[in-house]
Amino acid sequence: MDFSLTEEQTLILQTAREFSAREIAPKAAELDKSGRWPSEIIPKLAELGFLGMAIPEQYGGAGLDVLSYALAMEEVSAACASCGVIMSVNNSLFCDPLYKFGTEEQKRTILAPVARGEKLGCFGLTEPMSGSDAQTMVTSAEKTKDGWVINGAKNWITNGPHADFILVFAVTEKVDAGPGRPPKLKHTAFVVPKGTQGYSQNPHDHKLGIHAAHSCTVFFENCHVLDSAVVGGVGDGFKVAMATLDGGRIGIASQALGIAKSALGSSVSYAKERKSFGVVIAEHQAIQFKLADMAVELEAARLLTWRAASMKDRGVRHSMESAEAKLYASEMATRVAHRAIQIFGGYGYSTEFPVERNYRDARITEIYEGTSEIQRIVIAAGLLRS
Ligand code: CAA
Repeated sequence: MDFSLTEEQTLILQTAREFSAREIAPKAAELDKSGRWPSEIIPKLAELGFLGMAIPEQYGGAGLDVLSYALAMEEVSAACASCGVIMSVNNSLFCDPLYKFGTEEQKRTILAPVARGEKLGCFGLTEPMSGSDAQTMVTSAEKTKDGWVINGAKNWITNGPHADFILVFAVTEKVDAGPGRPPKLKHTAFVVPKGTQGYSQNPHDHKLGIHAAHSCTVFFENCHVLDSAVVGGVGDGFKVAMATLDGGRIGIASQALGIAKSALGSSVSYAKERKSFGVVIAEHQAIQFKLADMAVELEAARLLTWRAASMKDRGVRHSMESAEAKLYASEMATRVAHRAIQIFGGYGYSTEFPVERNYRDARITEIYEGTSEIQRIVIAAGLLRS
C-alpha cells in the first residue's frame, strides 16, 4: 500500500501549512477570545480555492481531490478550528451536495459563486427537537402551483448568520405505514437564498468552543420557493442529507486531526523547555509516554481519515469508513488535548497557551455531523450489512 502523497497533494499541504501559519495562527487566540467572525480570512481561503476544493473548475471549484481537501482542512484547523469548520461546511455540506444532486442551473448560478467563495453556504438539517434522529424533523414544505411553502426552524446552523444560501431539508409527504404505526416521512432538500421572504436568522449562539464559527437558529415562516429550488428528487431529501454527511464526516475528522496536531506540537515544544526536578520535562518518561501515545493515536486517526477520503475520491460508498474516521479522530482529539493540558500543568488550564482552546474546540467534533453514538450506529449497520 502506497501512503505517499502526489506532487499536487504535497503542494496543497505545503500551501495550506504556510498560509495557515502566516495568516491564521497569529489571529486564532484573538478570534477565540473575541468570538468575532473571521471576515478577513474567508476571502483569503477563497483566493486559494479552499472553499470549493473538490468541485470541478467549470463550477467555480479548485478541481482537486478529496484527500487534498482533507490535508488542507487539517492545516487550517491546526491554526484555528473555527476557520476549519467554516471551510468544511461550505465545502462538504453545501458545495458537495449541490454538485452531486443539483441541476445544471443550480450549479451555474448557485454552486459556482459559493465554490469560488464569493458567497457562503450552510446546511439546515438539525431542529430543536431532532438532532440524531434526523428523519423525525417537523419542518415541512407544502406544494403550491409553482413551488413550495416551507415552515419550521433549524438550529445549530454553522455559518447560518452569514450564509448567502441554505440547503434545507423538509418533510414533503407522510405515507401511511399501516394501523398503529407512525406515518413514514418523505423529505426533500431545497436551496434557499438569504433574503427570501419568510427566511430569517437569529443572532449567533454562544458555545464552549469554536467561538469564531458562528451558528444560529434559522426560521422558515410561510417561505415560498419555486420548484427550481428543489435539490435532488422530491422525496429523496433524506438520502441527500445522509450522503452529504458521509463526506462531511471526512471534513470533521480532518478538523479533529488539526486540533490534535496543534495540541501535540505545543506539548512537544513545551516539554523541551519546561524544567522540573532538575531536567526538562521531556526527559521524564511520564511525559514521553504521553507524547508517544498522542502521536500514535493522531497517526492512526489520520490513516482512517485518508482512507475514507481516498474511497470518496474513487467513488466508492464510504459511509462506514467516514464514520470510523470521524468517531476515532474526534475522540482522539479530545484525548490528545486532555493530555496536552496535563503536560502543561497549571499553564495548560490558562488561556495564555493554546491547549485549553484545543480542548474546548475538540469537544464539538464528537457532536456535530453526527455524535459518536451515531457514528457507532452507522459502523454497526455497515458491519451487519456485510
Ligand atoms: N447514503 C445514502 N442513503 C442513505 C445513507 C447514506 N449514507 N444512509 C441511509 N440512507 C438511506 C437508507 O438506505 C434508507 O433508504 P430506504 O428508506 O430507501 O431504505 C433511508 O436513508 C433511511 O435510512 P435509515 O433507516 O438507516 O435511517 P434512520 O432514521 O435509522 O437514521 C441515522 C440513520 C444514521 C441515525 C441518521 O439519522 C443520522 O446520521 N443521524 C445523525 C444526523 C446528523 O449527523 N446530524 C448532524 C447535522 S449536520 C451538522 O452538524 C451541521 C453543522 O452545522 C456542522
